[in-house]
Amino acid sequence: MGSLAIYPGTFDPITNGHLDIAKRALKIFDRVIIALAVNPKKTPLFSSEERLDILNAIKKDNPELEVDSFDGLLVNYAQKVGANAIIRGLRAVSDFEYEFQMALMNRWLDNRVETLYIMTAYRWIYTSSSIIKEASMAGGNVKGLVPDYVHAKLNEKFAVLQKK
Ligand code: COA
Repeated sequence: MGSLAIYPGTFDPITNGHLDIAKRALKIFDRVIIALAVNPKKTPLFSSEERLDILNAIKKDNPELEVDSFDGLLVNYAQKVGANAIIRGLRAVSDFEYEFQMALMNRWLDNRVETLYIMTAYRWIYTSSSIIKEASMAGGNVKGLVPDYVHAKLNEKFAVLQKK
């Protein structure tokens, strides 16, 4: 069956930084599932259907990766698919506190699942989904920071919102 890790997130939208983490996780695990949290704490720009559609489109160009979505507790999803590792990316020190809290909570909930961190590649240190959305909304070109399909979807989304 091989080793399986899940890479969870809101992915609103997925960025090249996220993709880099998922692909590097595949050097350690036999399988990696990019797992979309459909009901995150955040209010996403893209609906869960749109975010899943984006992930499926990304999978076409990256068939080695798997994509899925989950609702409710992450550790329950991990049990359901048989994963014993959660992958998260770490950028600056500012990520640390939030990630530490999340890892400890997940361990409290289910200590069979370990959280592993992969340092983001240098070029993605200062990117985030929010800052990419902000720049794109103001008409900035974010090509190269996100997969081309995401770039097109951001342009589409903001063109529609501007017409409203
Ligand atoms: N490159 C670029 N950006 C990155 C990145 C990287 N390598 N790693 C993280 N980011 C950014 C994202 O762009 C995002 O930016 P934003 O805040 O501006 O949108 C931010 O860091 C984190 O987003 P994301 O990676 O999508 O994850 P998340 O923090 O939204 O995910 C869940 C949180 C979904 C994993 C968590 O809420 C969860 O597990 N929910 C399920 C419920 C549960 O089990 N709760 C109890 C456990 S705490």
